[in-house]
Amino acid sequence: MENKKFLHKDSFDYEKYVAMVKQHHKNGDAFSWFDYIYDCVEGDYTKVFWADLEPNPYLVDWLKQELIKKHNKTACVIGCGVGDDAEVLSEYGYKVTAFDISKSAINLCKKRYPNTKVNYLVADLFDYPKEWFESFDVVYECNTIQVLPNQYRKKAKTAMNNLLTKDGYILVSCRSREENTMEDVIPLPLSKSEINEFVTIEKLKEISFEAYDDTQEPPVPHFWGVYQK
Ligand SMILES: C[S@@+](CC[C@H](N)C(=O)[O-])C[C@H]1O[C@@H](n2cnc3c(N)ncnc32)[C@H](O)[C@@H]1O
Repeated sequence: MENKKFLHKDSFDYEKYVAMVKQHHKNGDAFSWFDYIYDCVEGDYTKVFWADLEPNPYLVDWLKQELIKKHNKTACVIGCGVGDDAEVLSEYGYKVTAFDISKSAINLCKKRYPNTKVNYLVADLFDYPKEWFESFDVVYECNTIQVLPNQYRKKAKTAMNNLLTKDGYILVSCRSREENTMEDVIPLPLSKSEINEFVTIEKLKEISFEAYDDTQEPPVPHFWGVYQK
């Protein structure tokens, strides 16, 4: 396990991480390395380097508005990682389906939240169960489109839109970049025109959009977008 410590939060090595991701992309393998990241922490979710271990504050602020009043409201979390955002959606009364392509990530969630009401499961955004089609009032994703190589990024938005009920909301949190810059910088942040494809291609309505710098040192530019069907 020693050689995998470069992926642990407390000994993370960005250069080695990038080399690993690029090698997988070069081999035409866009997805298997996610499980590697969760597997190498050997059951300790606090060591997952990209996990904030708290719910996204923009998601919490959106939930506080209580825009969806109906009973039995449903939410789907794409690429749920170690589960903080799925759990807060559940706390706000949503029936939550949270999935990740990584079995090790889902195992970490189940171990971390043994009494959870969230339905955590292994699934692929590009091959999810047909019965999920148009069945969620909220579809949430944080930092998942941005880890996908180019050929999957438009498809990811369509797959998210297909999960949404009529009038449902897509909530997106991601790193951002200026147009025509950082096109191969891992992780691959989204440009405004890219996130805007929820409007220009998926034909959703932009309800709110914010570009902001996070609290890291140095600060990392981000987008938060809310779109409605
Ligand atoms: C950068 S991580 C973000 C995890 C979590 N959302 C967070 O904010 O901490 C991206 C996540 O997307 C998952 N993922 C990547 N491709 C996926 C796919 N095709 N279907 C489902 N999950 C996927 C990865 O396993 C990983 O957990």
